[in-house]
Amino acid sequence: MRISYPASTSRSAELHQRGLSVIPDGLSRSTVIIRPHPIYVDHGKGAWLTDVDGNRYLDCNNNFTSIILGHADPVIESAVRTQLASGTAFSMATEAEIELAEILCGRISSCEQIRFCNSGTEAVMGAIKAARAFTRRPAIIKVEGSYHGTYDHAEASLGSDPSNWGVAAAPSTIPYAQGAPESLAEEVVVVQFNDEQGAVEAIRRVGPRLAAVLLDPMPSRVGMPALDPAFSEALRQTTREVEALLILDEVISFRLAQGGAQAVHGIDPDMTVLAKIIGGGFPVGAIGGRSDVMEVFSAVEGDRAAVPSGGTYTANPVTMTAGIACMRQLSESSFDRLDDLGNQIRGGLEHLFEQRSAQWQVTGDGSLFRIHPHQRRIRSYRDAHLDSDEATVMTSLQHRLLEREVYLSGYGMGCVNLATSDADVHHLLGAMDEALELVVG
Ligand SMILES: Cc1ncc(COP(=O)(O)O)c(C=O)c1O
Repeated sequence: MRISYPASTSRSAELHQRGLSVIPDGLSRSTVIIRPHPIYVDHGKGAWLTDVDGNRYLDCNNNFTSIILGHADPVIESAVRTQLASGTAFSMATEAEIELAEILCGRISSCEQIRFCNSGTEAVMGAIKAARAFTRRPAIIKVEGSYHGTYDHAEASLGSDPSNWGVAAAPSTIPYAQGAPESLAEEVVVVQFNDEQGAVEAIRRVGPRLAAVLLDPMPSRVGMPALDPAFSEALRQTTREVEALLILDEVISFRLAQGGAQAVHGIDPDMTVLAKIIGGGFPVGAIGGRSDVMEVFSAVEGDRAAVPSGGTYTANPVTMTAGIACMRQLSESSFDRLDDLGNQIRGGLEHLFEQRSAQWQVTGDGSLFRIHPHQRRIRSYRDAHLDSDEATVMTSLQHRLLEREVYLSGYGMGCVNLATSDADVHHLLGAMDEALELVVG
């Protein structure tokens, strides 16, 4: 079925107008804006979404990778319903948080202990604070372009562009939110993904002030390039050399395998940040790691920990119950199926690009993929960074796919869930073929 987008007479457009008077942008997440008007969802089931106008879309975003089993999974639904009837939030601990922590520590070899929070943003912030408290040092190193949520320090150089990114060997630290303190540049040093030499030099240079290096092993905004094992190995060895910590942000990459990307790539971080899939579709974050590091969260003397952490809804039993129901259903064969779906999609897209002589490419792994409207070899953010013409092409691709019942992010990052069938993949590739014809001719 052809959907009309944009559609000024649609209920989505109407809701947008109504929303604008009470919410900036008419919605609460800048990541879900689609111009000229966003789409307002009514419900989701399995691999498909239905919007408020009754249009259906194959969901190739999955709430930015957080839905892994499919929308409205019946096992999660039933577990959550039972929990709802028993109350949703208490100022007491619950057994459910211990159970989810046991499952996660059992799967992730580097995590001896876990503390929960409510989002990946909060977890990254907590991990940075923990590293600072553990090492008693202020600075962090992060990768240019890498997204780790909206904490000022973690956002540095997320939106760098050729006008301000500086030399490749030592990228400039560029605040993302306007008004972020100037001191950010003293506390956040930026390196390029896969730049082993630049990273080693930066770690040694910042060494005596360095609390941690923050690494996403498959950073989506960096272009989802393949991780060079020499890079992650150099980060691991050099952080040990200067006695700083390695924090692995597995908020998305925990989707890759039972033990996350660290199991796939043989990385042994001091701390791991989790979110998204571990909440079974509910707001969640978690910080895991070696128990001597995690000790900073423990109120060992008196009431106050080195890093006090609370949160009114932290580890609430609804999220914990959904997380347990989700993680229990994820077996080795689930990840095999996700790999199979991802391989079908990436292989199918490459085939289409070739057939249409489009100078495009696709990166990604497991159930994740990212489409690029160019053929530059992608090893880091600067290779993947889109100029304004390329960004316009990707917006146009998103609109043409919406018209063909496929929902993909505006920058070409895609992800499928376990309810996706081979027929759904066929639908995606068919829609992509038609959209490509319109976008590149
Ligand atoms: C790698 C990574 N880290 C952290 C975050 C922040 O997570 P949240 O949106 O739950 O705050 C995200 C969100 O997309 C992410 O992709």
